[in-house]
Amino acid sequence: MSDPNDRDRGGRRSRRRRGGPGSGVIRKEREYEEGAQAPTKPPIILAKPTNEQPGNQGNAGSAPRQSSPNSSLTRTTRHQEKPVVMLKSREERKSSISSHSKSGFNPPTVPSSDPTPSVNQPYSIQRTLPAHQGSNDVPGLNRLSGPQETSHAVKLVDESLQWCDGGMELLYDQTDFLVVGFLGLQGSGKSTIASLLAGNSPSDSQRKFVFAPQSREMRETCEHQTVGVDMCVTSQRVIVLDAQPLMSPSVLDYLIRHDKKYPAEYSTAENCIEMQSLQLVAFLMTVCHVMVVVQDWFTDIHLLRCLQTAEMLKPSTPASSHDSSTGQDDSADYYPHVVFVLNKANREDFNLQNFTTMQKTLENVFDNSRLRLAGSATLANGKSLPGLNDKTVDSDINLFLLPWMDSAKPETQDTILTFLPEYRGYPSFQTLISSLRDQICSISRDPLTHTSLSEKNWFHYAARTWDAVKKSQLMSEYNRLLP
Ligand code: GTP
Ligand code: MG
Repeated sequence: MSDPNDRDRGGRRSRRRRGGPGSGVIRKEREYEEGAQAPTKPPIILAKPTNEQPGNQGNAGSAPRQSSPNSSLTRTTRHQEKPVVMLKSREERKSSISSHSKSGFNPPTVPSSDPTPSVNQPYSIQRTLPAHQGSNDVPGLNRLSGPQETSHAVKLVDESLQWCDGGMELLYDQTDFLVVGFLGLQGSGKSTIASLLAGNSPSDSQRKFVFAPQSREMRETCEHQTVGVDMCVTSQRVIVLDAQPLMSPSVLDYLIRHDKKYPAEYSTAENCIEMQSLQLVAFLMTVCHVMVVVQDWFTDIHLLRCLQTAEMLKPSTPASSHDSSTGQDDSADYYPHVVFVLNKANREDFNLQNFTTMQKTLENVFDNSRLRLAGSATLANGKSLPGLNDKTVDSDINLFLLPWMDSAKPETQDTILTFLPEYRGYPSFQTLISSLRDQICSISRDPLTHTSLSEKNWFHYAARTWDAVKKSQLMSEYNRLLP
């Protein structure tokens, strides 16, 4: 029978042979054994990390024997004094954000240039903290973590049309971003389409939408859902803005019924709502690369007139220091791309003749406009609907049609028809919304001002613009002309 101590020593020898002097696993095992039982022989240290033997660099093979059994303890204690950095695998992180991924929403991620993404622990912690607590409880967290991830929009302009600073936390100091603003009349589907552009999928429950759409009760009581301006930032650095409805009867009703005080400069509540609508449009025209005008029927001439007036009243682009010193005029004023979306479109709306008539109408109304109304995003590119292409459609006005979402389609009363395959005559909602998203995201990102803005600078610029719009002399004069 062999002595178990011999066997143990033999095993240790063979492990040493297998592992070699650099094997971390064996070193750990040995340290454990040394710490657990008093060694009969002093342990042989074959190699130590260079940072633990400052005086012995390049001399690992001839490291002196550690005669004291406390040496391993000393090493362990020193090891514990080091800061512990916990690394989380991507899989773990994925599971923590699975609720977003399932909903199709891509939460903002740290760009590759940022040195922090490998340390995911603080980033995950930050997500679990309530927004009002922020990350101040954990020292150094602000420096380590990226902007907060949100699955819901934050307020940019609140109910009483005051600027909110919360959105700043979502933004980076980088210049490659796109700002897309949504506006239109009440209940036309602005928040729904904005959410779908921000990454939600039509199959998601409406509760998961980034911008809350109207509930059924709201639809039935003809109330509006969105108040002020909401903002969300996608991981592709698209800043999506969703505005409250323009010239909304529900906003007016709220103002009158709740006896809200409107500024004395407005003679009537109706004028107040009209001026607020103009301020919102003028603001979006100044700070957005793309303005999406959502309608659910074609068309309301008051909406189109509101756009024209806002174009006239919008603040001019601030001149660069070079321009002001040379006395150049403001001919280089910024004008955004404008895309008209007809939501909840019928089969007839996709018909070539109706489509071209709608385009013609928009072309005539905005004949003298400097807004970029053509060549940016259109259904007539021949890809989604072969019948609508550049050979059949003369105009390239930015008009896009979206049918009813399949899930929200009104139930047909005719039961026999539900068993028959449906003839749609147009591509599916999913295909069209993807096409719209692709086209909008690939629109050229022209500079909003004469100097290049980072996301954070854009936020400051937007705050200044909102202030300028509200205090605009031109707006006040226009208000005085209202009946
Ligand atoms: P406000 O913010 O109140 O002005 O509304 P909104 O313009 O943001 O419209 P919202 O996205 O809230 O949509 C209004 C209602 O229409 C919601 O109940 C949506 O579910 C519904 N809706 C929007 N788009 C579609 C669509 O394409 N098909 C169907 N069936 N319903 C839609
Ligand atoms: Mg809305």
